[in-house]
Amino acid sequence: MHDTVANTQTARDLHGYIAEQERKSLLRFLTCGSVDDGKSTLIGRLLYDTKLIFEDQLAALEKDSRKHGTTGDDIDFALLVDGLEAEREQGITIDVAYRFFATPKRKFIVADTPGHEQYTRNMATGASTADLAIVLVDARAGIIRQTRRHSFIASLLGIRHVVVAINKIDLVGYDRAVFDTIAAEYRAFARDLGFETITPIPMSARYGDNVTTASANTGWYEGPTLLEHLESIPVDRIDTDKPFRLPVQFVNRPNLDFRGFSGTIASGTVSAGDAVVVAKSGKASTVARIVTADGDLQTAEAGQAVTLVLADEVEVSRGNMLVSPSARPEVADQFTADIIWFDEQPMLPGRTYLLRTETDQAPASITELKHRIDVNSFAHEAAKSLDLNEIGSCNISVQQPIAFDNYVDNRATGAFILIDRMTNRTVGAGLIRHPLRRASNIHWQALDVDKAVRAQMKHQKPVVLWFTGLSGSGKSTIANLLEKRLHNDGRHTYILDGDNVRHGLNRDLGFTEEDRVENIRRVAETAKLMVDAGLIVIVSFISPFQAERRMARELLAEGEFVEVFVDTPFEECARRDPKGLYAKALRGEIKNFTGVDSPYQPPENPEIHLDTVGRAPEDLVEAVATWLRQKGIA
Ligand code: ADX
Repeated sequence: MHDTVANTQTARDLHGYIAEQERKSLLRFLTCGSVDDGKSTLIGRLLYDTKLIFEDQLAALEKDSRKHGTTGDDIDFALLVDGLEAEREQGITIDVAYRFFATPKRKFIVADTPGHEQYTRNMATGASTADLAIVLVDARAGIIRQTRRHSFIASLLGIRHVVVAINKIDLVGYDRAVFDTIAAEYRAFARDLGFETITPIPMSARYGDNVTTASANTGWYEGPTLLEHLESIPVDRIDTDKPFRLPVQFVNRPNLDFRGFSGTIASGTVSAGDAVVVAKSGKASTVARIVTADGDLQTAEAGQAVTLVLADEVEVSRGNMLVSPSARPEVADQFTADIIWFDEQPMLPGRTYLLRTETDQAPASITELKHRIDVNSFAHEAAKSLDLNEIGSCNISVQQPIAFDNYVDNRATGAFILIDRMTNRTVGAGLIRHPLRRASNIHWQALDVDKAVRAQMKHQKPVVLWFTGLSGSGKSTIANLLEKRLHNDGRHTYILDGDNVRHGLNRDLGFTEEDRVENIRRVAETAKLMVDAGLIVIVSFISPFQAERRMARELLAEGEFVEVFVDTPFEECARRDPKGLYAKALRGEIKNFTGVDSPYQPPENPEIHLDTVGRAPEDLVEAVATWLRQKGIA
């Protein structure tokens, strides 16, 4: 009996609390700065001074309702933490700590991003949904490179309001001149970054000056305290004014009578009866129902998780978008984007990465790095790759078209991340600027005489035999003997050899990582054309990187790529040294020499593994020939 009363009481408190919170507007902000600038102190101070630590209250409520076994409150709890969960889910990383707190005026989600140089990734993650950035500056140090980098990224990511928290003002004796100088320098530097407001505040997070209460120590300062500013800065949720976008997370088909498309509305609003189209196919339909966990809705808006039931049977796969017919997104496989690079391994044009948007993903590569942006001067610099923390403007080519908006129009549908396919690490974030039209008028020309016909005429199955191994491992020798043998058997073959191709097609390339990636990309494309011509192609390149060998494999059809690992240990290659290159490299006369100061990544699962030590080349050729015969290739 007592329990029931308590349950009802808890539930009522909870509902009242939720209702109250829901009425308040939400400000998302992040703090950025260097390690010692006092970010944690500032956040701690804010949470402590506001004395409304939401998470704690939530924990207490949760404990209460669990103790009393209130059923049905789970959903309400989900509602409460929804905002937070959503942030975590779309989280590209878990390294960003999101904190939720509220004052009587407003509720807040703050992304606390680590301040090390290498943590640009976390900052970009935290900033992607933020309305405001607090840039911490140590009053003693003034504006440093990090301040500029973080401000630049904040501006790239579309944050419109900046607070320059000039912290540790106590350590410069609350000196107005120091404050004015830093504030002026920041304004000058950020002039072209497009922020709507820049608000410098003198602060001591440690002692609480101007954090939540106006400080008597800074009588000369007439502006708001940090909290006053955070509570009053207008954040118009313009997301609902934008065209309707529902990135489809999954197709909900519990039984034959129901088919709905589920996801969180990225922008705009939708009502039952609205016309919608499928972004990629352009197929049109009408919204029959808007289904949610709490029943059907007449209208739903940005931020809400819904399932749309359409009036017609149209094909909408996961990764597609339902959109407003009058304002459609771009659908393209090539576009320009700004990329922020997070990884220790540099971004290499030509390498294939996995590109992931809110719901879609496809292999993609940077076809051109147009320029790198200096975060200090905003100058555009020529560059061949992007290193850790660098930002560049790039042309990107995706294997299939994706649907997107330009980032300035829509932060949710205009952003993507890049994932390294070997390590599965998130290596970069991209902001789409505009589609490239150049590819849109080129269509694959269907030809009547095709690969099958050409192969048939030659009585063979076209394949690529991809020899990889160190310089001097014996690739060319084995390739040459193998070709002679196939030729004698009446096969139509061609050898693409590293040294030879580098005399012509690839004469502009050297041996840096970037150049080797491009070297292999071109050779793979050439080999593909030759397979299309019906040939048995023998490729003999060091091809030291797994990523590019995989790219070559994926260019071809199943079974057409045969990886042959010519496995000769470094010591043996250096001993043989047929071209005298190892001696030179070991003396330091050749830079980036494979095995010396440039890596070789051996294949993990080659179709053919040739252990060459102690075996005659003829033997090894025999092994390859036997394999080809067994597979019915030649
Ligand atoms: S790859 O790494 O880009 O695949 P590729 O097979 O085209 O290399 O070229 C390798 C050949 O170039 C070697 O067999 C060697 O004769 C020559 N060479 C010249 N400089 C280098 C170098 N720095 N590293 C490796 N090979 C080099």
